[in-house]
Amino acid sequence: MALRQIRIQGDPVLNKICKEVKEVTPRTLELIGDMLDTMYEANGVGLAAPQVGILKRIVVIDTTGEDPVVMINPRIIEADGEQTGYEGCLSVPGVSGKVTRPNRVKAVYYDEQLNLKEIEGTELMARAICHEIEHLDGHMYTEKVIGELVDNSELREQEEE
Ligand code: NI
Repeated sequence: MALRQIRIQGDPVLNKICKEVKEVTPRTLELIGDMLDTMYEANGVGLAAPQVGILKRIVVIDTTGEDPVVMINPRIIEADGEQTGYEGCLSVPGVSGKVTRPNRVKAVYYDEQLNLKEIEGTELMARAICHEIEHLDGHMYTEKVIGELVDNSELREQEEE
């Protein structure tokens, strides 16, 4: 496994639509391993394949640091409730923005053995699932930010007040 370079907003690869994964090859597994390594190294809670320059429908999410979920061809099938809060993206370093998301989502996806799985998440997990799946269609959270992007150091000060 290895670290991959995280593409930064402005890189056209982040605005492309990713292709469905039809088979999981050793290269696919290597990519997934590298995505997990890259996400953990950058202290992120999620990473989508286009963020490392690969236009495949694969995302990895870990909201706790010890519970990685690898989602191939993920699709949201239910969403309800509402939450508004700050989120960030490894492709938009150093800043966060306020985004409204559903508070609960249910998604279906394939695991690395191409078994169909279902996952339900609330709060941060729901936010991460929505954020990462949008990357697969070339969308960035910055399109949805309410108000301005805030520097992360300012955000930490606000939280401490
Ligand atoms: Ni992101």
